[in-house]
Amino acid sequence: MNIDANTKITGILGHPIHHSLSPLMHNTVFKHLGLNYVYLPFDVKPGDLKDSINAIRCMNIVGVNLTIPHKERVIAYLDRIDTEAELIGAVNTVKNIDSELVGFNTDGKGFLESLKNDLGFSPKGKRILMVGAGGAARGILVSLALGGAKKISVANRTYNRAEKFTGEFSDRFPSVNFSALPLENNALKNCLGDTDLVINTTSVGMNGDSLKLPLNYLPNSAIIYDIVYNPLKTPLLREAEEAGLTTHNGLGMLVFQGALSFKIWTDIDAPVKLMKETLAKRLFV
Ligand SMILES: NC(=O)c1ccc[n+]([C@@H]2O[C@H](COP(=O)([O-])OP(=O)(O)OC[C@H]3O[C@@H](n4cnc5c(N)ncnc54)[C@H](OP(=O)(O)O)[C@@H]3O)[C@@H](O)[C@H]2O)c1
Repeated sequence: MNIDANTKITGILGHPIHHSLSPLMHNTVFKHLGLNYVYLPFDVKPGDLKDSINAIRCMNIVGVNLTIPHKERVIAYLDRIDTEAELIGAVNTVKNIDSELVGFNTDGKGFLESLKNDLGFSPKGKRILMVGAGGAARGILVSLALGGAKKISVANRTYNRAEKFTGEFSDRFPSVNFSALPLENNALKNCLGDTDLVINTTSVGMNGDSLKLPLNYLPNSAIIYDIVYNPLKTPLLREAEEAGLTTHNGLGMLVFQGALSFKIWTDIDAPVKLMKETLAKRLFV
């Protein structure tokens, strides 16, 4: 990589940031395509976010990604955000357009792209169970609703959070049949029988723990998508495989959200196959 006076700077702002795989993914692609860009990790504490966002303008940085804990608070420091990011209430990508800072959210769209490209699945008319009601779930829910899902059920450990979450979006998407469920097998059994897609959006699985869902109630055609990507094969995915169901891990979402950010900054289609291979080498099965 040759850094010179013309090198365009991109990067990621988060705290902590040392675990991020995005610098590896983007720098590999910049090098592969011969683009004079660099992607840097910036460890930005919450109190320094405003100054760091202003620095994007002052230092002519092309754009950045935002990760925990900055995705919501960054909105206050941007000039405008696109419609989907506004619905989600979070921004993970910023582009500096002639000193105007514009916010986007590629998390949910990346998830949808992975469904389409990796599994040939469209949410249109489908019945979907999401487990979890945290930050990642918001982006995914908005994309599924915009994609025409017929029914979205949200099961969460803290039931009140699922209820608040679905209540908020049922006003915005009146054509979607939303429901909130407690994360208990008896409640899930009734829902699973007519579910096309189950998505784990919780962090369960990262430490070898399992959600222990009653997967035998699902139709044989159902898909289990776990957005956890480290490890690549979570206990939930192992259980689903053993039950003969189609499974997919979070690497697809990670790659496609990155590919969409890349396109926003460079106007070039990212080589997603290379991105996926690069990350897979670093992750555990
Ligand atoms: N593949 C990708 O590109 C991608 C992108 C974003 C995030 N992720 C992954 O998605 C996961 C969630 O991220 P997030 O930002 O949404 O986190 P978050 O906002 O902290 O939400 C965490 C969710 O997990 C639930 N949860 C946590 N521990 C649980 C347990 N022991 N049993 C049941 N539920 C539990 C929480 O339930 P309560 O409400 O009850 O606390 C909440 O619904 C992380 O593993 C992250 O790495 C992947």
